[in-house]
Amino acid sequence: MFKIAMVADLHHFSETLSDGGKVYHLRESSDQKCLMESGAIIDSAFETLGNSDCDVVLIAGDLSNDGEKVSHEEMKVKIDKLSQKKPVYVVYATHDWCCDGNAKRFEGDKYYNDVETMTPPELREFYKDYGYAKAFDEYVNHLGASSYAVKLSDKILLLGLNDDQDGKGHSGYSDEHFEWILKHVKEAKSKGETVIVMEHHLVLPGLSMLINKGMIIGEHEERAEALAEAGVDFVIVGHSHTLRTTEYTAKNGNKMYQVNLGALCGHPASITTLTVDDKEYRLDVSYVEKFTYKGKEYTNEYITEHTKGLLMGILKSGAADDKEEFLDRIVAIGGGIKRENVEKHYKLLRKLCKFALNVTVGKAGRIINSLTFGKGVNKKAVKQIKDDNLMEHIMNIYLSVFDGSITKYGAGSPVYTIAKDVVALPEKIGKVLKIKALQKESMKKTFAQIDEIAEELLNPSLPDNHHCVIERH
Ligand SMILES: [Fe+2]
Ligand SMILES: [Fe+2]
Repeated sequence: MFKIAMVADLHHFSETLSDGGKVYHLRESSDQKCLMESGAIIDSAFETLGNSDCDVVLIAGDLSNDGEKVSHEEMKVKIDKLSQKKPVYVVYATHDWCCDGNAKRFEGDKYYNDVETMTPPELREFYKDYGYAKAFDEYVNHLGASSYAVKLSDKILLLGLNDDQDGKGHSGYSDEHFEWILKHVKEAKSKGETVIVMEHHLVLPGLSMLINKGMIIGEHEERAEALAEAGVDFVIVGHSHTLRTTEYTAKNGNKMYQVNLGALCGHPASITTLTVDDKEYRLDVSYVEKFTYKGKEYTNEYITEHTKGLLMGILKSGAADDKEEFLDRIVAIGGGIKRENVEKHYKLLRKLCKFALNVTVGKAGRIINSLTFGKGVNKKAVKQIKDDNLMEHIMNIYLSVFDGSITKYGAGSPVYTIAKDVVALPEKIGKVLKIKALQKESMKKTFAQIDEIAEELLNPSLPDNHHCVIERH
């Protein structure tokens, strides 16, 4: 039996980069991730891993927040310490070398982009003891980034891959790089070994292409088929910060599993273990239970509340009529939202925030049904949970995006029935009111995708995202 512990998206942020002022506050409150607390969360996770019965620890990229050199230096001290107890392998990607130019330090109400970052060749050397220096083969791509092949045991091959760019303007692999990967997969399979690929971006869409389009490697359909056909058993990925295991069957019948790890520095702060034995594979998810930051102990709930705060902070500041905070938070989300445009509608938005925080399922159901001639949402389901706070259920569904549906709403349950009715509303309205824009083929496809996402969040299909056993063939 061999036990592999895996984490991703640690996003360590050095506290030296922030004075905790206004701009930092807006930055961290507009993100799923905890930033200043990241070091403490990582320390707690690494202590758990160091004292666990796992045989090896894999880290699937985004070790630093935004590629800051100082964050990497602190991160490496943590990995060095963990490696005294367990072998560690890492891949670095996206936020490790600041390919999107976001490295910042925060001072009062200003931020500065004068932070030293690291290049892929520098990262190759910096993390070599957790990569190519322990490998039996290496491929260095056009960025100078390292991919390596290493035996975790005499029966398990790990390919630690850098998939940042395929040379065609997308994440993924050049054809030469991919041939190198397939060569190692085929060699290992010819000896009956388990093959684990660790990369950062997704190979399979996971939750949906509607959400993960920007997270997936180039030519993903062909690459997934080729990897599965060659016999890859598991592809371990991060990047999307969404915990989800997806099964893929190649045309030749081979099964491959993409294990999308959740983020460590944000909800659900998860650690996934893959146990390999002769008969089966087993995937189990656990969570950082507690961590100590500035002498005070926090539980996992703090991380969850932070992730919820991304939405709740906006609603609460609006409901409390804290106009500046409300506008700052909306603008901090990014996406080109203009402060003056939001300000024009502030009075209405403030009322909506108050309403959204306090409305019961019963009241929301009555409003929807009165606007849709009683055809909007199932009245029986609404009646069953009429006194529930609507936002609590919405928050659970929102968290399910990140945590693979820790809270499940089974088919036929009141929340499931109501949520599916709500998701179907735009299409229904389009038909009844004969709105052409909502009846286009492209819109029908989008509605079907949204329905699939809702289904997967409410009532996830197999394999179970948190505990599952996979028989070996
Ligand atoms: Fe990330
Ligand atoms: Fe990433």
